[in-house]
Parts: sequence; structure tokens; C-alpha cells
Amino acid sequence: MERWRTIIEPFRIHSVEPIRISTREERARCLAEAGHNLFELHADDVIIDLLTDSGTGAMSRDQWAGIQRGDESYAGSPSWFRFRDSVQELFPFKHIIPTHQGRAAERIIFSVLAGPGDVVPNNAHFDTTRANVEATGGQAIDLMPAHGTHEILPFKGDMDVAALERLIARHGREAIPVVFMTMTNNSMGGQPVSMANLRAVHEVCRRHGIPLFLDACRFAENAWFIHEREAGYRDRKISDIVREMAALADGMTMSAKKDGLANIGGWLALDDDDTAQRCRDVLILTEGFPTYGGLAGRDLEAIARGLEEVVDEDYLRYRITSTAYLGEALAASGVPVVEPIGGHAVYIDARELLPHIRPLEYPGQALACELYLAGGIRSCEIGTVMFGLQPDGTEEPAAMDLVRLAIPRRTYTQSHIDYVIEVVHSVAERASELRGFRITDAPARLRHFTARFAPIS
Ligand code: F0G
Repeated sequence: MERWRTIIEPFRIHSVEPIRISTREERARCLAEAGHNLFELHADDVIIDLLTDSGTGAMSRDQWAGIQRGDESYAGSPSWFRFRDSVQELFPFKHIIPTHQGRAAERIIFSVLAGPGDVVPNNAHFDTTRANVEATGGQAIDLMPAHGTHEILPFKGDMDVAALERLIARHGREAIPVVFMTMTNNSMGGQPVSMANLRAVHEVCRRHGIPLFLDACRFAENAWFIHEREAGYRDRKISDIVREMAALADGMTMSAKKDGLANIGGWLALDDDDTAQRCRDVLILTEGFPTYGGLAGRDLEAIARGLEEVVDEDYLRYRITSTAYLGEALAASGVPVVEPIGGHAVYIDARELLPHIRPLEYPGQALACELYLAGGIRSCEIGTVMFGLQPDGTEEPAAMDLVRLAIPRRTYTQSHIDYVIEVVHSVAERASELRGFRITDAPARLRHFTARFAPIS
């Protein structure tokens, strides 16, 4: 196949959303009103919104056509069958349980499988996954080797398999109701997991009789990295690689807001009949009937088509290359970013960029606020604000203080990204002027969403 150096967006723009260009003075006022918490901003006051890649992507012409075809029958809608079949095409689990988004699937599976005293290992839990384990009284344990920000590894999301063995030996199989693998791994850089590592974890789980579940939110991006980086996969179709991943697991949770290319939705899928029945009992209490599970028929249609589009090689090549374009440009200008660049986002190491701000004065928050002030860019702190609060109420520095620039799917063009590069570069040049923050008000759990901050002068 011919290869040009410039990898273009493999789509044309079909309907446009205006961006209002605000001034620094306006943004300073908005930020103060928001208590310096970017989740509290009005999205209209943001120029480039990189808060999350979740539910923020653009849908295709075919997905919008599916929205029109959505059938809203309460039970047994044709849209449900299209959804179920498209999920099973990639993930041939016996039971597919639709949910309104990923965390609903997490809540259902952990409420059924886990409880006080239980331990749930994961390569790296995302915040809602951790919170849902802890809400059952269980303990969420991350089994990632400590990697340096600049340590280049092809599969930096891999689980430490020896640590998993030690954990099982220490707690006993009975205390571990399920093992999770997050692919790609969101909290620590959007890094992929290799098929070899997934297979090794599968072997350990099988030997001990522990079910293995995938947190598969970004499964297609993970499969692309396997396609590109793992020996023996270059000639395999992405959909085959996904099915091979699924075959190593007993079930999955999914947020269709990521690699479902939809604005809402998710599912829980598994093989075990008894567990599936108990999950459906919970589903009916909180989400809905098992053929819609908290979604409209039109949402099921959008997801069904999204799953076909997300495994397209041209799409994935563009997706992963354009994320790397941002990350590599920042790295080249001396901004410390987690390397290699992950799938859905670029993570700036705020602790390294701002060594004069102590972790408990939230360097990630300081950088995120300054990116907004300088250029209207909304990013997300993934560090001590998000993970520093312990279940007993004390506070500790998180493993890293990162600022995530998450790229919505099929939404921004290269000139938007060039603007981001320019803004981040200019903020990094005057990093020593940035100051830390203190929290003035915070809830007991998931504080990053609603905490209010004051700058330390
Ligand atoms: N698992 C991972 C790895 C995630 O990144 C997310 C969401 C979820 C589960 C939960 O899915 O939002 O549909 O309930 N991550 C978003 C983010 C919110 O910004 O990274 P959800």
C-alpha cells in the first residue's frame, strides 16, 4: 500500500459546531466562578475541550441515520438485536447486558461479585472502577510496575503478573472474586496491554479459578497497538485481534462513549449463566429491562454502527497517529509527557514540569488551570486531586501528577491541535511562575468533580 507522510482525517465535516473565542479576562472570571475546578465551567466558555474523550466524539452519517431508525419498543426492539449482534461480533460472550454507560456495568458486576474484605486486582483502576469496588467494601489494587515517565516500552499498560501471583498467594483465591484488565490503561498514560500479557494473566486466573474481565473502553485503540507493535499481528484484522482478546476473558465492562463511538451507552458481557442472572436482577432495579438497559433504541443503533466503524484500519491509523502528533510535538519542545504517547490522550507530567509545586499543592491542577487561562484549553488533572484522598480521609500524593489532554474522536482538526501545541508550549516556558492550590471545599468521595480550590499566593 502506498504511504504518504501526511495522514489525513479520513472523513469530511458534515455539520459544524461553532467555537466561541473568549478573551483571557473572560476566562479568568469564569475560572474564579468555577472555584478553579474545570468540571464546573460552562462548556461554551471553553475553546478546545480536551477534558475527556468520553461521549464527546462526532458521530458518522450512518450513525445519525441509525438514530432515525431507532425502534423504541420497550421489549425486544429490533435496535436491541442489532446492538447485541454487533457486540457479539467482536465480543462473543453469551450474555450481553446493556447499560447507560460504563460505570453502571461496573456497579452491577461489583455489587454482584464483590463485598467487604474482597480484593480486586487491575493493571490500573480508573476512578469510577476503583470507587465502585470500594463502595462494596472491597479493596481495589493496582498491579502496574512503576515505570518512569520517559521509559519507552511498547506495552506499558501490562500487568505485573508476578505481583498478581503474590497477591493471590497472600489473600487466597476466595478473597479475589474477579481480576480486571483495563485496555488501554487510562490512569497511567493511555498505554496498551499486549496480547502476551493478557494471555499470561488469563493463565494465572484459569489456574486459580478466578474470572478475568476486561475493562474494554478503548479496546480498538489497544488492538491497533497490538497490530502495530506485537510480533505476529501485523497481518491480522483488527476485529480478529479484538476477538482474540475477548476469548482470553470471562466477561467485560464497556463504555460505548469511548470506542463505541457513541455519545452515551455501555454494556456488561459475560459467559456465566448464574452471574448473568444476578446482574440482570440488579439491572432491572436500576437501569431498565434487559433489552434496553437504560438506553433508548436510537442509542443502541448508534453504538451498533459505531462498533463497525471503530475497527476500521484507516480510522485507527488516523486516530493513533494524530494523538502521537500532539504528544511528540510537545516532547520535542521539551514539555515532559508520558512516553510513548498513548492512544486517546497525551499526559503531561506536571510534577516534572512544576518541581517547585509540592504534590499536596496540586501541580496538575495548577497546570490545568493555566492552560485554560492562557488558551481556553480544558484538560483534566489525573493526580493527587483525583487519587490523593484515601478511604480513611487522609491525603497522600498520588503516584504521579499528570494533566491529561484527551482527544475526542473525529472532532478536532490538525489546526486545532497545532493551536494546543502553541498554547502548551508558551505555558511551559513560564512554568516557574505558576503557583499551587489548596482545596477550600470537597466531598468525601470522587472529590475532583466538585472540589473548590483557591490559588496559593
Ligand atoms: N473505565 C475506564 C478505563 C474509563 O476510562 C472510564 C471512563 C470508565 C471505565 C467509566 O465509563 O464514563 O461510561 O461510566 N472514563 C472517562 C474519562 C470518564 O474521562 O476517561 P463511563
